[in-house]
Amino acid sequence: MRLSTVAGLAVALLPSLGYGWLSTDTLQDADPPQSGYLPTHNFDPSNLAGLTMNWSMSWNQNEQHHAKPLVWTPPGGGNELVITVSNQNMIRVFDGITGKVLYSRVLDAPFSSTDAECGDIPNMIGITATPVIDPNTNIMYFTSKGYKNGLAGPQGLLAGQYKVYAVTLPSLTDIPGWPYVIPNVGADNDPARYFLGGTVLQRTGVVQTGNSIVLGFGGHCDNFNYTGLVVSISKTTGVGLTGMQATIAAPGAPPQALDLHDQSSGMSGIWQSGTALAVDAATNRVFFATGNTHGAGVNKAGTPMSGKTYLSTLEQAVASYSVDPSTGKLTQQDWWEAVDYDTYNGGDRDLAASGVTLLDPFFSGGGVSRIATIAGKNGFIYLLDANNLGGFKMGPGGTDAILQKIDSSTGSFFGGVASYPLEGGYIYFVPTGGALNCYKFGLGSDGKPFFTLAGKSAMVFAAKGVPTVTSLNGQPGTGIVWLADVNQGLVAFNAVPVNGVMQPISLGFATGRLQKNQRPVFGNGRVYVMANTKMRQQYFQYYRVLLLHLQQFDNLFGHYQLCHYVEFLLCILFLNFVIVLPVVVDVEHLNLEFDHIHLQFGHIHLELDYNHL
Ligand SMILES: *[C@@H]1O[C@H](CO)[C@@H](O)[C@H](O)[C@H]1NC(C)=O
Ligand SMILES: *[C@@H]1O[C@H](CO)[C@@H](O)[C@H](O)[C@H]1NC(C)=O
Repeated sequence: MRLSTVAGLAVALLPSLGYGWLSTDTLQDADPPQSGYLPTHNFDPSNLAGLTMNWSMSWNQNEQHHAKPLVWTPPGGGNELVITVSNQNMIRVFDGITGKVLYSRVLDAPFSSTDAECGDIPNMIGITATPVIDPNTNIMYFTSKGYKNGLAGPQGLLAGQYKVYAVTLPSLTDIPGWPYVIPNVGADNDPARYFLGGTVLQRTGVVQTGNSIVLGFGGHCDNFNYTGLVVSISKTTGVGLTGMQATIAAPGAPPQALDLHDQSSGMSGIWQSGTALAVDAATNRVFFATGNTHGAGVNKAGTPMSGKTYLSTLEQAVASYSVDPSTGKLTQQDWWEAVDYDTYNGGDRDLAASGVTLLDPFFSGGGVSRIATIAGKNGFIYLLDANNLGGFKMGPGGTDAILQKIDSSTGSFFGGVASYPLEGGYIYFVPTGGALNCYKFGLGSDGKPFFTLAGKSAMVFAAKGVPTVTSLNGQPGTGIVWLADVNQGLVAFNAVPVNGVMQPISLGFATGRLQKNQRPVFGNGRVYVMANTKMRQQYFQYYRVLLLHLQQFDNLFGHYQLCHYVEFLLCILFLNFVIVLPVVVDVEHLNLEFDHIHLQFGHIHLELDYNHL
């Protein structure tokens, strides 16, 4: 794994010091609403050919960065700093200009993947979620998974625990009274579903609203008797947990299993490929999406239900919760479940692989003042009214009460949608194995927002990562759509397509393959990307050959999108060697390491050694 930075030629504008931080900093996963539009990083599309590789950093053996880096400039000035957090519970603070490590810290030993019985996150599961920096206090908040005794594992699942840290920047010293251990207590909406640090995984970027930080929890390969949880924790030292809501709760939930390996009790995890919960700061609401569930829940009878009525079983759902700005209490506000939600509970077609995007209020009309989007592993993009998400079957004749459903035709979505509110307004998304799609904003016959295809890129992508858009301080004509792609590396396109084609912008260098589930992260005319160099050097040459076989493989299993980027290698190997595959393989359970492949489906766990293939 490698972190690289690319230095730009953009002139450093002097941004305001309003909050003791610069507008060119990146204080969380993208922007709070997850709009994916970042106008303050001083990138001019006409200068990108002048970008050069500035420095890179190699990590420890088996060290991976699932969280995105952050960029923060100390109050009073100096170089921008880059902060990374890893699966080995290591934190580093780099000088963004020189690449020098200024501060570093090792926390408790990380949780062992052996105990999680899941290869999604190999070796160690320490910090997996992008932290958040409070611009008013310069405190960075993040979570870390380890064991109750602080020692190395494996020690068994029940020995696991989650700590929430609050550290001062740039020194990384603990705020007195922190870290806070999340207690094993029951959810506010169902005491039987309680928090077990060992069985849950916090992968969504940490967010803040009011006096709270908010976390979303999913599981490890949906193993164990876990239930998805949204959790709020007070920033005030000594207060701790202020809200915990289970995504699946009584009434309507299956009984809570008391056998650790029984997956039937809830699930409906929040993981979103690591993207943060979307925050609407003005109304103290957070938005998220949920994944696979056991059983069909409250809506199985098919009776229409308003999203403003509390739903205890949020499965394959988009939900919004208010976070009380003073008490931190979580209250369900609104939700939407597709009419065919239960069909996505099998076959790895769930919604939760993407986060919710709240678009800029520019995208409004016909009484819709804000749009929320969700892009599912099922290949659909849904556009919702953020203030009236849609409930269940509330449209005419029991249809979805949503603004629009876009069929990507191919692929799945991991990560979500980006937007550009200038020059008429556009949104962008990339299905796995597909092109970068651009849809233009418009109004339908009912006056409500409706998007139409405006262009596609010629290039296709692995697409486990979210597109992100910059502009040169909001000037029309300067929009750039960036993608940190597993296969193509860092790429950039003009935000407005020409004759139906997204126009690539030459960067004058190639980063090579990048880590999945990342975004490019921006500073002042600089962009930081995470790479896995070992994987690139060893396997890149196989990829193009294997891509040809993908189509065959997909046809074999019809609707299931089984293969994604480097995992194509696995699939082909299986076609050759194993021939009979189980019908449902969760690609998220495939994992590549330097010299091994792990594959898990059901209770079968396979390990292949490249040296023997
Ligand atoms: C990296 O960028 C800084 C600032 O732009 C520059 O001073 C330095 O020489 C660059 N280093 C390399 C190796 O390009
Ligand atoms: C899951 O099973 C374990 C082991 O039997 C049990 O200790 C735990 O309480 C169960 N989880 C929940 C949320 O009840």
